[in-house]
Amino acid sequence: MKKKLIIIIAAVLLLAAAGLFWGNKSIEVTRYRLLPENLPESFRGFRIVQVSDLHNTDFGGRLIEKIAAEKPDIIVITGDLADYYSTDIPVAVDFAKKVCEIAPVYYVTGNHEYRIGRYEELKAGLEAAGVEILENETVEISRNGEKISLTGVNDPAFTGSKLIDEQYIAFSAELKKLPAVNGTNILLSHRPEFFSLYAEYGFDIVFCGHAHGGQVRLPFIGGVFTPDQGFFPKYSEGVHSSGKTKMVISRGLGNSAFPLRIFNRPELIVCDLGEEK
Ligand SMILES: [Fe+2]
Repeated sequence: MKKKLIIIIAAVLLLAAAGLFWGNKSIEVTRYRLLPENLPESFRGFRIVQVSDLHNTDFGGRLIEKIAAEKPDIIVITGDLADYYSTDIPVAVDFAKKVCEIAPVYYVTGNHEYRIGRYEELKAGLEAAGVEILENETVEISRNGEKISLTGVNDPAFTGSKLIDEQYIAFSAELKKLPAVNGTNILLSHRPEFFSLYAEYGFDIVFCGHAHGGQVRLPFIGGVFTPDQGFFPKYSEGVHSSGKTKMVISRGLGNSAFPLRIFNRPELIVCDLGEEK
């Protein structure tokens, strides 16, 4: 009887370990189709792949293969490519080199890029790899003579404040310095908790990360904890709408201080522009 019980407990532990491993290493692709106002005809079907919060995780080529298979028009990286607790600049740069071979890559910083204290080194590597780094600036993407705008903002940690209220004020001031939104305008910003600012500014689609899906996701409840929002956060994944603004939050791909995801697989976002089906 005792032997049977030990076997059952061992089997349950083994299954739980296998489930945790799968839940942290297998990449889930989430697909969206969003229609911004005034989308030029040439951009119908334009495919954006979002990579967020990789935190120096090396998926051994599987992530690169998945991204390439989607045949994106552009790839956007929304911060925390490097990790404060296990900083590895060469791993981050190597990933950037590989994705740059697939499609044009646009990048914004996360709070970890600020915390590592080696952002200039990372930035030099990313630029050499061919990544377009957007630091509070807007670029245009053209297709058949038509264009959309893509804006990227530095993480609010780069405003120099650690307090969320002060960051909000400084970040808001940075947003106001940007050129007025004109036509279809997409924003890359690490932080989802400032959604009201993105909507106020009139962006069409915002790609964010940072929340890691709440790290642990409970059935019927959702994400448990995110930095800066605390327990049971409002913005931890999915698409959120306010007026014409839609915010896409990636659950991210890696882990940081808390090394496990539970019921929250690493997520790769594939977003096509066009009529919602
Ligand atoms: Fe973050």
